[in-house]
Amino acid sequence: MKKIKDLTSEDIKKMSYNEIIGLVRETNRTPGGLNTIKEVSQKLCLNNNSKILDIGTSTGHTALEFGRLLNCKIVGIDINDESIKTAKERCERFDLSNVEFKIDDATNMSFDDETFDVVFAGNVTSLVSNREKALNEYWRVLKKNGYLVAVPMYYIEKPTEKLLDDVRKAIQVNIKAQYKEDWKKFFVRENDEIFEEVDYRFKKCSDEEIDKFCADILSRDHLKDLSASAFKTLKECYYYFMHLFNENNSHMGFTIFMLRRKESDIFNDPELYHSEIVNE
Ligand SMILES: C[S@@+](CC[C@H](N)C(=O)[O-])C[C@H]1O[C@@H](n2cnc3c(N)ncnc32)[C@H](O)[C@@H]1O
Repeated sequence: MKKIKDLTSEDIKKMSYNEIIGLVRETNRTPGGLNTIKEVSQKLCLNNNSKILDIGTSTGHTALEFGRLLNCKIVGIDINDESIKTAKERCERFDLSNVEFKIDDATNMSFDDETFDVVFAGNVTSLVSNREKALNEYWRVLKKNGYLVAVPMYYIEKPTEKLLDDVRKAIQVNIKAQYKEDWKKFFVRENDEIFEEVDYRFKKCSDEEIDKFCADILSRDHLKDLSASAFKTLKECYYYFMHLFNENNSHMGFTIFMLRRKESDIFNDPELYHSEIVNE
């Protein structure tokens, strides 16, 4: 990618939502943010011996938070070099020697088989063109008793064709409307089982909240290197994207799927006597 000072208005107009996020160095979080990271850490009893891979780490939020919380080995990968550069800078600033970032493609990863205890794929798989290939890769690099965590976003209410089309153009991926059951069918294959499954829905922000957020992000020092015309275009694109995704998210939710391999007959024997919590 060009240096920030050399970017033209035309370059910015061609950027996808994810490239713009990389450019403004917005902290792109996994759905649910820190709450999702805490929930996964607690439910999977992760500790400082766990080895975690964060797929589509963007500017590194998930990997850095796991790193601060657990002091275990984490690798964050992304195909966007600008985002990885920011993630590395943040990592140095936090002095987290247990966290590493590298450019790598989810559909063809450079890691050996059975390397990680947890593969965390937030809301990334929807952006990958060959999803089956990515999913095979997630399982390939997981240790035998490892856990795949996927946090896909999906529509709870059917979006209009116009909204869907605007989102397609913004992310520059030809998505179709996906619902929870579509993702469940995709992620939970014959040999896998759901260890935990937690559902959420997004709250809608007010227009004022969005505008304040955009103004704050666009006041960042590194953006002062842009020419006046490039900055004007960035401003228009960024405000447009953030309002669009606020509208889109208001029809959406996400699930934290924690999956593992069905390993043996002993663990899969049918269970008859179930129990329930008794509230006082
Ligand atoms: C919406 S952000 C994900 C943010 C957050 N880390 C999460 O867990 O939801 C998606 C990220 O996936 C990256 N990405 C898209 N295709 C990828 C691929 N094939 N391999 C690795 N990263 C990819 C994008 O560059 C982007 O930074």
